[in-house]
Amino acid sequence: MVVGSGIAGLFVATRCARAGLSTIVVTKKNLSDSSTNWAQGGIAAAMSNTDYQAHIDDTIDAGCGLSDPKIVEMVVREASNRIEDLISSGVQFDSNEDGFDLTLEGGHSSRRILHSKDATGAEIERALIIEARESPNLELLESHMAVDLILKDKSAEIKGIAGIWVLTPDEVVKTIPAQSIIIATGGAGHIYRQTTNPPVATGDGIAMAHRAGAKVRDLEFVQFHPTALALSGERPFLISEALRGHGAILMTSENLAKWESEGGEPTEYSFMLNHDTRGSLATRDIVARATDQEMKETGENCVWLVTSHLDKEEIQQRFPTIRSRLKKNGLELGVDPIPVAPAAHYMVGGISVDENGLARQSPTFSNEIQYPGLYAIGEVACTGLHGANRLASNSLLEAVVFSHRCAEHVIANIAPGGGNEELPEWRAEGLSSLVEHSPLRSDRIALQSTMTDDVGLVKRNSRLQRAQRRLEFLREEVERIWRGSLPTQEVVELRNMVHVSRLVTSAAINRKENIGLHHNLDCD
Ligand code: SIN
Repeated sequence: MVVGSGIAGLFVATRCARAGLSTIVVTKKNLSDSSTNWAQGGIAAAMSNTDYQAHIDDTIDAGCGLSDPKIVEMVVREASNRIEDLISSGVQFDSNEDGFDLTLEGGHSSRRILHSKDATGAEIERALIIEARESPNLELLESHMAVDLILKDKSAEIKGIAGIWVLTPDEVVKTIPAQSIIIATGGAGHIYRQTTNPPVATGDGIAMAHRAGAKVRDLEFVQFHPTALALSGERPFLISEALRGHGAILMTSENLAKWESEGGEPTEYSFMLNHDTRGSLATRDIVARATDQEMKETGENCVWLVTSHLDKEEIQQRFPTIRSRLKKNGLELGVDPIPVAPAAHYMVGGISVDENGLARQSPTFSNEIQYPGLYAIGEVACTGLHGANRLASNSLLEAVVFSHRCAEHVIANIAPGGGNEELPEWRAEGLSSLVEHSPLRSDRIALQSTMTDDVGLVKRNSRLQRAQRRLEFLREEVERIWRGSLPTQEVVELRNMVHVSRLVTSAAINRKENIGLHHNLDCD
């Protein structure tokens, strides 16, 4: 059973099915509703062994030394084989006369990012969906939302997976037995007001696994992308870091006016030079925080991404998705400065897993014990690759490397003929009492405001404490709704969002040093 249909979910599902395992993918909307489908920049991969060490070093530097070196090395070394797999699955990466057209993003010391123009994720998703639809032994259940995991024996010290409860499109909860469950539900950007993530990113997998006793880690490291389109009334559409890799420069209004009147080298006018010698191509944690600081100091609600010094024809061809999105708002790529601001983008933390994506049990159950049958891959997992800050375009890479390893592990370990146990029905005990759903919308807004205002890019102890109190109030409210209502996707999502927000907030309270993506003004 695979939950989720981005790169991680589809890749692992087709490999398991191909090996003869009877495989199901459940996904809460359409197959293509995934963060993968929205990923622009690309997939980082050292395609020659002369680049291995540099990719390892860049990943560890971006992660501020908190990455697990063994995992970093493993992912970097397996990258080129997984790129070959994606190509065999039909993915087309851009190339030129020298081979792959490799691009650059923040924190990379060399060009190693493969891409398909500025819609790399959509190209990967397209190919993997075709492959999944043609795959034998693979059932694809769209508009089916996982609600909770079913354990073999709730009181056992070592947990085991028996199945999953899934909400069907007619709002009935179905019990599905499964020997292995692979969670690939992506991130949780929607716990914040502004996010580059698609609407499905509500932290479902982390919440579900944690409720079932899986260990989670590093949730304080929430990555904000520095350059999301900042136009009022519009969703924060991602303006890929690859555009900065191509030479776009960040400026405040004041920088821009000065550059326009004086002319000269645009990099020299960027506020980013006051924060990092790498300027607009510093790592994401640094660029996002610097941008936030400048916005607070100037009182403006955006900074500007300047592209008018670049070859207009060339960047319009290279970034067609961004070009057409800007055009809808009357902006021309290569001419007009683009208003941008940080937005929640990626959860570095997640379900703690080993080198095969196998989950670990929460230490409250037992210390560092594996969770047989439960796997997590892709953004929902925390593998140790990213440390305190993810290097740009390492996420699609991590997803495909771990999906491959996970498939091999499942195939090697699944017991023949299992998964036929009698499982409990959903809520055999019935509902407590029926309650109104009406506060759902306002509870969701309250949650996003709390997380944005108090658990955002820059934190304070008092704000974190306030968030914790507010989230506890929301938890009680949502629990009451949960216990007294027939589940809908909206209720299941809100319950998960509250759960994940509380985990993120406690993790931020517990992290006492400023490192990578975690920045608290009350720590030094
Ligand atoms: C981007 O295109 O800027 C996003 C790439 C990533 O999140 O790694």
